[in-house]
Amino acid sequence: MDKMKPKYYLTTPLYYVNDVPHIGHAYTTIAADVLARYKKSKGFDVHFLTGTDEHGQKVWKAAEAQGKTPQQFVDDIAPRFETAWKQLGIEYDDFIRTTEPRHVATVQKIFSKLLKQGDIYKDEYEGWYCISCESFWLEGQLIGDITAQPFCPDCKGKTERLREESYFFRLSKYQKKLEDYIVTNKTFIQPDSRRNEIIQFIKQNLRDLSITRTAFPWGVMVPNDQKHVVYVWFDALINYISAIGYLQDDNKFNKWWPADVHLMGKEIVRFHAVIWPAILMALDLPLPKQVFGHGWWTVEGQKMSKSKGNVVDPLALSSEFGVEAVRYFIMREVAFGADGDFSMNSFINRYNADLANDLGNLLSRTLTMIEKYFQGQVPRSKGQEEDELTQGLNKLITGTPKAVDAAMDKLAFSDALAVIWQMVSAANIYIEKQAPWALAKKGETDQLATVMSTLVQVIKTTAELIAPFMPETSTKILAQLNLGGEKVAKGGPLFPRIAR
Ligand code: MSP
Repeated sequence: MDKMKPKYYLTTPLYYVNDVPHIGHAYTTIAADVLARYKKSKGFDVHFLTGTDEHGQKVWKAAEAQGKTPQQFVDDIAPRFETAWKQLGIEYDDFIRTTEPRHVATVQKIFSKLLKQGDIYKDEYEGWYCISCESFWLEGQLIGDITAQPFCPDCKGKTERLREESYFFRLSKYQKKLEDYIVTNKTFIQPDSRRNEIIQFIKQNLRDLSITRTAFPWGVMVPNDQKHVVYVWFDALINYISAIGYLQDDNKFNKWWPADVHLMGKEIVRFHAVIWPAILMALDLPLPKQVFGHGWWTVEGQKMSKSKGNVVDPLALSSEFGVEAVRYFIMREVAFGADGDFSMNSFINRYNADLANDLGNLLSRTLTMIEKYFQGQVPRSKGQEEDELTQGLNKLITGTPKAVDAAMDKLAFSDALAVIWQMVSAANIYIEKQAPWALAKKGETDQLATVMSTLVQVIKTTAELIAPFMPETSTKILAQLNLGGEKVAKGGPLFPRIAR
């Protein structure tokens, strides 16, 4: 561990294992990977945590449906997430499964501590529960007739009436403190639309939260009261500290906590921006610096669902078009925070326009010309006064990295890529305007050398800036430029055009 480096701790949600990894899960995980790589490149000591959420009624039912024990079931599926992330080039530092002893022990210790200090108490729960969302709802929040079986306001599925003995977490006690915190710390919840929603939600008054269940046996057992299992959300949220050694390894914990950012989809910001901070307040721990809720992907305009059969498999897409193109597309297509639509048409358009044409052609044209006019050796600029076009492009070479930093600081991944591509496009226009073939014909070798060396600088800068998004492409480009060697090493096209 390097003591001089600032630390950066980021997380994804823990994905439920009743589903296989799809493009929605991949989105958060790729964004986290891009951010982790970017922060590393800026000299941070980074810890990137992801994992799987393996308890709860939904998983228990899914296991039952397949005739497996819940443990067998989760053991079969959890590795699919790890494999998927490796195939998508994700370099996480830790993968936590909520069934691991290190996690279970921490949840139990926290439960006992909060029970002892009075933040958890035993009572009876009566109310509505949505199994699909693993969420409790108040009557006023439900859709439909509450004298019959009302529907969940989130997933619109049927809820169930529950009446069981339960332990409660004193969420109400933290209402005021939480509201003050969110109002004062303007970037704690981002984007602002999510922040406003949460403030409204808290203002409606927080009720104490039922945090144990007795109806099924799949979860972290409550210490000394084994008929209860801990509510999945209370269990899963704790992963963010159990994984870094809370109550187990003080050095490790103190090094990483508080998290710099928890990334997630907008539908679960409520859990991370209300329940989680209240738990941390009860434990007297600092809050994460930021909770960021990104938007949702639809597919060809439709909500993605197993029943519709339109679930996009990121691995299938990657084996067809390459991992890097998938990473590029989902980071570029929509602003992080906004909703977006995945369609084959927009994927292929972007691939062909941005990757095959703009970037791929810039590299191959430039290298071809260096081979043709300079026997493959990247020429040096002869130091003559720069023409206006070259000055303009040089401004982009120095300005673009700063613009990328500014965008990345706001997690505006799409903006970061957009400014990089402005430079790439400008370089293609520069080629047209300078017309190196004409310079060669006229024997203007000094100007030709300036043009080529400026283009090489653009390409090198581009390769460096895209590295967090497309690490392999970055390496490939730098290898073709071969700046440490004698001659450029032109290779095949980076992104062969997709015929359509
Ligand atoms: N297990 C909980 C999270 C616990 S965190 C302590 C959970 N799991 S989940 O498997 O349902 O994953 C939800 C996450 O997957 C979302 O927050 C988001 O990161 C991602 N997405 C799932 N579907 C998505 C889309 N259609 N679009 C974008 N992201 C989506 O909730």
